Amino acid sequence: MPKTIVVVGASRGIGKAVVDLLAQNAEHKILALSRNLEKMNASFGKYPNVECHALDLNQSNVRAHCEEIFQTIDSIDVLINNAGKLVNKPFTELTREDLEGCYNVNIIGVMETTQAAVAKMKKAHIVNISSVGGFQGSMKFPGLSAYSTSKAALCSFTELFAEEYKDTDIKTNCLCLGAVQTEMLEEAFPGYEAPVSPEKMAEYIVNFALTADQWMNGKIIPVSLSNP
Ligand SMILES: NC(=O)c1ccc[n+]([C@@H]2O[C@H](COP(=O)([O-])OP(=O)(O)OC[C@H]3O[C@@H](n4cnc5c(N)ncnc54)[C@H](OP(=O)(O)O)[C@@H]3O)[C@@H](O)[C@H]2O)c1
Repeated sequence: MPKTIVVVGASRGIGKAVVDLLAQNAEHKILALSRNLEKMNASFGKYPNVECHALDLNQSNVRAHCEEIFQTIDSIDVLINNAGKLVNKPFTELTREDLEGCYNVNIIGVMETTQAAVAKMKKAHIVNISSVGGFQGSMKFPGLSAYSTSKAALCSFTELFAEEYKDTDIKTNCLCLGAVQTEMLEEAFPGYEAPVSPEKMAEYIVNFALTADQWMNGKIIPVSLSNP
């Protein structure tokens, strides 16, 4: 069935691979969002069913900006909140800017994007992309306290949103990813070789986003072959 799908954090890594895969089905309409519009246009210009928009989650008016972007579409069937910001620093060296950056991109901006998207949703699936680092009881890593706590908040938001919308056809779930070979992983764990490529992870995310709302709501699912 043709769907309108919004992918936030689409310019590189997993988000780019998700858009590349979704675009193969010409019936879908995809809105690709991130800060780097030029890069997205260069990657996705070849797809007639992908529309790119600049969006910075680390700013004060995310909801209004998203409402403006979503004006052009009638409805949203799938929202993939994939954008992420990672800071890898010893705890006492974290600045206010580091903390706000992680929290704005990984949770506050996601909540505001979702506020704008909900107005366009009837029957929909929201997929939040978190990390195993934000999954309760998982192995933790030094230097990631800003990033992983903000990802834990994203897990919590998933449960709270699902509760508030449980009587509607809007379902939300959260995927806590393990290591995927992207530029973000290289920054966090230089030299580490992940067992999963962005393209392979995109296969799981796309299938999950298009189908899993039939079976689950408010679930937090680790998707990991390895630690980190
Ligand atoms: N790779 C891993 O091993 C791993 C593991 C666990 C979880 N994850 C999660 O998976 C998701 C994708 O990760 P990735 O490895 O593909 O990361 P990545 O290569 O760093 O890509 C992150 C994406 O988020 C966008 N983004 C960053 N800051 C933004 C902002 N202020 N506003 C809007 N968009 C922003 C970036 O686009 P612009 O720079 O153009 O804005 C980019 O498209 C993230 O949520 C990450 O936390 C990844």
